[in-house]
Amino acid sequence: MARRRQWSSGGVAAAAVLGLLSVLCAGHPAPGGFPLQPRFYEHTCPQMQAIVGAIVARAHAEDPRMAASLLRLHFHDCFVQGCDASVLLDADGSGRFVTEKRSNPNRDSLRGFEVIDEIKAAVEHACPRVVSCADIVAVAARDSVVLTGGPGWEVPLGRRDSLTASLSGSNNLIPAPNDSLPTIIGKFANQGLDVVDLVALSGGHTIGDSRCVSFRQRLYGQNNNGQVDRTLNPAYAAELRGRCPRSDGDQNLFALDPASQFRFDTSTTTTSSP
Ligand SMILES: *[C@@H]1O[C@H](CO)[C@@H](O)[C@H](O)[C@H]1NC(C)=O
Repeated sequence: MARRRQWSSGGVAAAAVLGLLSVLCAGHPAPGGFPLQPRFYEHTCPQMQAIVGAIVARAHAEDPRMAASLLRLHFHDCFVQGCDASVLLDADGSGRFVTEKRSNPNRDSLRGFEVIDEIKAAVEHACPRVVSCADIVAVAARDSVVLTGGPGWEVPLGRRDSLTASLSGSNNLIPAPNDSLPTIIGKFANQGLDVVDLVALSGGHTIGDSRCVSFRQRLYGQNNNGQVDRTLNPAYAAELRGRCPRSDGDQNLFALDPASQFRFDTSTTTTSSP
């Protein structure tokens, strides 16, 4: 996706706004000075949101996992340098940066790049050199939530795409599955997000899957004792162990919310506590 770069609509600044849920969509000013706003493309690309919506809807119809993947793509973009599409960049051979796609949180798990590619191509066709990839990712995430039954919100627009990426930022800033609560709170605070934001954004796990490798530690030695994490429901833990063995099946997938895997709702199964 190196060609993404020549499509960026100029400017290297990353808008440090996380437009993931409505509570967060106040629209922080971009470092360049002017605030993000929902009508940013009203005159320059009025079809932008319709194009994104149509392609996300088709991608979701073809692959119901895609909604969760696009939501996560936005999150993993925003936590590194702000919501600047840095997550999309491939190394360009100049050696200036290493792609974030190779980071621990992203490697073998981040998805949806080809959907963003398709949207970007369609938007470029309609309105050349106007719409940033970062805005496309933000709108695609919102549309993914709406498509799966979640709330909608107005997405402030006008982000600028980054010309660089940060592998170390991706490795160190994005919460890890086994981070402690204080660490996670700290990582959100780094982004200007408080614990209410943390809880709201964690709700995004109402859709999507987790890989075995992400929670194996809880099944086989959370406290270095070789025992299953005792805060897990034993029956559920046994079920998870069945398809998440001690040392194989890293990529095996498990619904995060097994009762309604593809519904963005407020119910969760009560399997994670005794
Ligand atoms: C979290 O998992 C990583 C990768 O498996 C491991 O290196 C690290 O020690 C774990 N951290 C904690 C706090 O258990």
